[in-house]
Amino acid sequence: MQIKELKTLVFEYSFDELKSQDKLLIEKSREVAKKAYAPYSKFNVGAAILLANDEIICGNNQENAAYPSGICAERTAIFYANANYPDVPVLKVAISVYFKSDFIEMPVPPCGSCRQVLLETENRFNQPIQILMAGKHKIFVIENVKSLLPLTFGNDFLM
Ligand code: THU
Repeated sequence: MQIKELKTLVFEYSFDELKSQDKLLIEKSREVAKKAYAPYSKFNVGAAILLANDEIICGNNQENAAYPSGICAERTAIFYANANYPDVPVLKVAISVYFKSDFIEMPVPPCGSCRQVLLETENRFNQPIQILMAGKHKIFVIENVKSLLPLTFGNDFLM
């Protein structure tokens, strides 16, 4: 028997420690979180994506009375980015959550479906996508989607 260990490094920063480009991206994710349509969960998620052409694309969760028809913030944003900028790699995604009239303390990681979708974009452009999970005071940073989704199922199985 062999044991394979899969490591995920999570870098924790305070907001003030971040460089200004990352602060701006988080601020954008916070702004758009407040515009989420989340009347059922009240869990208002915002995602801000930095593209390689310096554009920032924002998205939030869009819920539905038929619950499974809703979609997460990260997928709203990444699908918009990929639909409108099909040739531009994604460099970073910042995620924030506004819940019960404040930004939540604990950084929130993307759900499994969003990780899979982000992975597709990471593979498509062969460009690591940095994930910035922004809690109210501390920020978790992960250097690529692959390390958030160990033993990934990706395009290499199908080609
Ligand atoms: N949600 C996101 O937008 N992103 C995630 O990664 C986790 C969950 C949304 C979906 C739903 O509208 C609400 O948060 C509660 O699950």
